[in-house]
Amino acid sequence: MKLYFASANKKKIEEIKAIVPKPFDLFGLSDIGIVDDIPEPGTTIKENSYLKALYVCDFLKQKNEEAFVFADDSGLEVEALFGAPGVYSARYAGSPKSDEDNNSKLLTELKNRTLRKARFVTIITLIITDEVYYFEGEIKGTISYEPRGKSGFGYDPLFIPTGYRSTFAELGPEIKNSISHRAIAVKKLIEFLAKYK
Ligand code: IMP
Repeated sequence: MKLYFASANKKKIEEIKAIVPKPFDLFGLSDIGIVDDIPEPGTTIKENSYLKALYVCDFLKQKNEEAFVFADDSGLEVEALFGAPGVYSARYAGSPKSDEDNNSKLLTELKNRTLRKARFVTIITLIITDEVYYFEGEIKGTISYEPRGKSGFGYDPLFIPTGYRSTFAELGPEIKNSISHRAIAVKKLIEFLAKYK
């Protein structure tokens, strides 16, 4: 059975390809000729995750192709900022998107604040014909006072997961990918697919 991931991110696709159970074959957006970014007009992470999956479903329907489709959307929610940057995480400091600018804006917003609790969240939407399923992953932590570490992307240099002293960027991919919000949501999706008849 074909399984489409509504993402053009090669790293994410490879990561998930390695753990998708048989008999699923994973395809990304480039495999079906979608080259532009899928619009994300929603006001919540869940809505954007759903809209991305729906976009690919509609595209495949027009080609009379029957397939399972899933999409993911993630963001960072900071308690002292009432959940910001949240759904706007990628472009928190404006367009074009820049991780460095986003991180410095976040540090400015949190200047002199001792309440630094935050969480990363991922919501995966899976659409099978007309059935919609959601899989959520979250990891709690705090925001550091300065960027630390070199690996990863986005807010990784600022996010210290609960139970650790290092940021995601210092911990590196092996530890991050075993505990992250995305890893938790993907694990739930894989477990569901493995049982799906
Ligand atoms: P996406 O929906 O996974 O592309 O995530 C949207 C934005 O949230 C990214 O551009 C990052 O700014 C932020 N983000 C999501 N996941 C992570 C992560 O694992 N580490 C750091 N930043 C992340």
